[in-house]
Amino acid sequence: MSELSVKHLLGIKYLNKKDIHLIFETADHYKDVINRSITKVPTLRDSTIANIFFEYSTRTKLSFELAEKRLSADVVNFSAGQSSVKKGETLIDTVNNILSMKVDMVVMRHPNPGAGVFLSKHVSAAIINAGDGAHEHPTQALLDSYSIREKYGEVGGKNVVIVGDILHSRVALSNIFALKLLGANVKVCGPKTLIPKYIESLGVGVETNLKQALEWCDVANMLRVQNERMDVSYFPSTREYTQQFGINKDILQELDKEIVIMHPGPINRGVEITSDVADSEQSIILDQVENGVAIRMAVIYLLAAKIK
Ligand code: CP
Repeated sequence: MSELSVKHLLGIKYLNKKDIHLIFETADHYKDVINRSITKVPTLRDSTIANIFFEYSTRTKLSFELAEKRLSADVVNFSAGQSSVKKGETLIDTVNNILSMKVDMVVMRHPNPGAGVFLSKHVSAAIINAGDGAHEHPTQALLDSYSIREKYGEVGGKNVVIVGDILHSRVALSNIFALKLLGANVKVCGPKTLIPKYIESLGVGVETNLKQALEWCDVANMLRVQNERMDVSYFPSTREYTQQFGINKDILQELDKEIVIMHPGPINRGVEITSDVADSEQSIILDQVENGVAIRMAVIYLLAAKIK
């Protein structure tokens, strides 16, 4: 039987191509399951999973919880804002307290890059990184590549441009790792100040002209500007950013071909993307969200098989 090469999902950089294909094939099965009338399977009836979130989340938190419940796991949720972290409790103490309640797996979002790796060295449970600062967001990248595969039949050979705040984006880094492993051609596009200097060493092209980037690509993955991770200004104004790097219907209609539009959410409508694009036929934003549940069911199932 095929199994993952890793015991934790800490980042796409720790996976190989075979792991990603195994996750996709398992997600194909779970996508069928969640679209039938009985959406629950008994697979993880004896497992307990803790979702611990030290940063805000809508999609990832709900999607993990749904995935866990559809696999029949027992689920506990922890949000730092309403916890004893506010009284000074450390990450290790918090998690050890949760683990002493016999938890098998921890899904964690944390503002510090490497928090998942740190935790995996100190606790016995399987760890899934649900976003660690500006570092990685592996399940988002998996569901993004899975959505491209669903649209085109394969990811290899496709031209994908990631547009926006690359510097502060864990989605961008995890997407680059996943897309490159799967054989896609990747470019990033945005203001020079929001593109890390090392990016080309990852085998990624840089484009600062949005129109040219869109002419080149099959898929444009639009990212939000992460103001919450900025302590200085990286561009003159939001209005200027939107004029240069925002996507709208007129820009799409001027292209010679129809491209696919993605966005990991949350969307800032009217900044990086207009509503007429976000809600258009070309957008697969809600398909990404739907696929997120199947991908997370697959990841949890495959990691649980490594614990037993
Ligand atoms: N895409 C994503 O991570 O969204 P949330 O921050 O709402 O989880």
